[in-house]
Amino acid sequence: MFREIKNGKLYFDGCDMTEIAKEYGTPLYVFSENDIVSRFEDLKRDFSDKYGNCRVAYAAKAFCTKGMLKIVEKCGASVDVVSGGEIAVAKAAGFPADRIEFNGNNKLPAEIDMAVEYGIKRFILDGVKELPLIEEACKKNDTKVNVVVRITPGVPASTHDHIITGKLDSKFGIPMEDDVLYPVIKAVIDSPYTEFTGLHMHIGSQLFTNEEYIKSLEVMLDCATEIKKRYDVAVRELNMGGGFGVTYIDEERKPYSFFLDPLMERIISWAEELKIERPVVAVEPGRSMIAEAGITLYTVGQIKNIKNVRKYVSVDGGMGDNIRVALYDAEYTGVVANKAEEPCTEKVTICGKCCESGDLIARDIMVPASIEAGDILVIFSTGAYGYAMASNYNNNPVPGAVLLKDGKAAWLIKPQTYEQIMENQVIPEWI
Ligand SMILES: Cc1ncc(COP(=O)(O)O)c(C=O)c1O
Repeated sequence: MFREIKNGKLYFDGCDMTEIAKEYGTPLYVFSENDIVSRFEDLKRDFSDKYGNCRVAYAAKAFCTKGMLKIVEKCGASVDVVSGGEIAVAKAAGFPADRIEFNGNNKLPAEIDMAVEYGIKRFILDGVKELPLIEEACKKNDTKVNVVVRITPGVPASTHDHIITGKLDSKFGIPMEDDVLYPVIKAVIDSPYTEFTGLHMHIGSQLFTNEEYIKSLEVMLDCATEIKKRYDVAVRELNMGGGFGVTYIDEERKPYSFFLDPLMERIISWAEELKIERPVVAVEPGRSMIAEAGITLYTVGQIKNIKNVRKYVSVDGGMGDNIRVALYDAEYTGVVANKAEEPCTEKVTICGKCCESGDLIARDIMVPASIEAGDILVIFSTGAYGYAMASNYNNNPVPGAVLLKDGKAAWLIKPQTYEQIMENQVIPEWI
C-alpha cells in the first residue's frame, strides 16, 4: 500500500526513495503515516464500529517511539506496553495513562510501581506471583486497578515456534489447571486493590488461519462460564491478543473481519446463552498495524559472486537493524529503488556487514542483473520488530527512521551516533 513505481523509481507515500536516501542517508527505516492510519481505520470499521463496546490496544513492542504513539493516540486506540521502557516512551509522548494496558510475564516491581504511579489502570496478570506486587504498588499509591488474567489456552498456533505463545509449554499466561488458575482468579476477585475485569489470551503471531483462535476462544469462554458459576462474578472483558498475519513475500493478508467476525459471533451467542451482557472485546495487534508501513533503505556495497553457488550482495546495514532473518528465518523481498523498472533476472542473497554468517537480510531474491555498488536497495515490510529489536552488534549505530506523509518527510528517530553508543561506557580507574 502507498508504494508505486514512477519514472523507473520507487515512491512510498508520495516520496521518491532515491531522494530520501540522498537526503537522510542509509541505512534508514522509512514509515508511511498514511499506511499506519489506514490499518487503524480498517480495524475500526471491521471491529470497533461494527460491533461496538470493543477496544484496540496497539502492541507497542512492534514499534514504540514517541511519534508512533502520537499517531496511535490520534487514531483513538489504546496501547499495550510490556516494560518500563515502553511506559517511559508513552509518558514522554503524553499518551493518556487510562488508555495504557500493561502486559508481560515478569513485570518487575519497579515497573509495576512506575505504571501505577503514572495512572495505568489495566494490568494483564501473567504470573501466579504477580498479584502481591500489584497490590503493594496500589497500596503505596492508594489506588485500585483493573486486572485481566492471561490464560494459556493450550492450543498451539500454526506459526514459527518462536512466536507461538498459547501452547501449554509456554512461558506466557497462567495454565488452565484447576488448582493453579482459579486460586489466582479468586485472589484477584477478593483483593481490595484489584477489580477482576476479565480474561486475556495471545496465541501467537503471524497467523493466517482462524481455527486456533476459535479453539482458544472456546477454552476462554468455558473459563468465563466457570468463573460465573463458582464466584458469581461476570467476566466483563475478553482480550483476544494480536497475531494477525501480514505480507512479507506473497502471503495473502486476511482482512480483520476474517479473524474477528467468527470470534464476535461466538462471543455474542455465548453471552445470549448465558443471558449476560456481552463483554467488552479487546484486541492487541502490533505487527499488522506497522509491518507493511515500514521499509528499510540500504546502499549496496561489495558484491561477491561464488560461481555456481551464490551471489552475495552486501548492504550497509544488517542484523543490527533487522534480526528477524537470523532469529526465525524470516523472509523478505524488495526492489532496487533506482532501477525499479528494470527486469529482475538475477537471483542474489542480500547480506549485512556484521561479522556473522547468519547476518542475512533476504535469501534468494530476484534483482536486476545490473545491481552494483551505490544502488539503493529497499526491503519491504520491515516496520514491525525491526527497529524494536535493533542492536549495536559490532558497534554499528542503530539507523534513524523517517516518517512520510503525502510527499513530505521528517525525522521520527534520528540515527544513533558513535558517541551515543559509548555514552554509558566507563573505564574503571584501576585499568
Ligand atoms: C500479549 C501480546 N499481545 C499482542 C502481541 C502482538 O502480536 P502481533 O505483533 O503479532 O500482532 C504480542 C506479541 O508478541 C503479545 O505477546
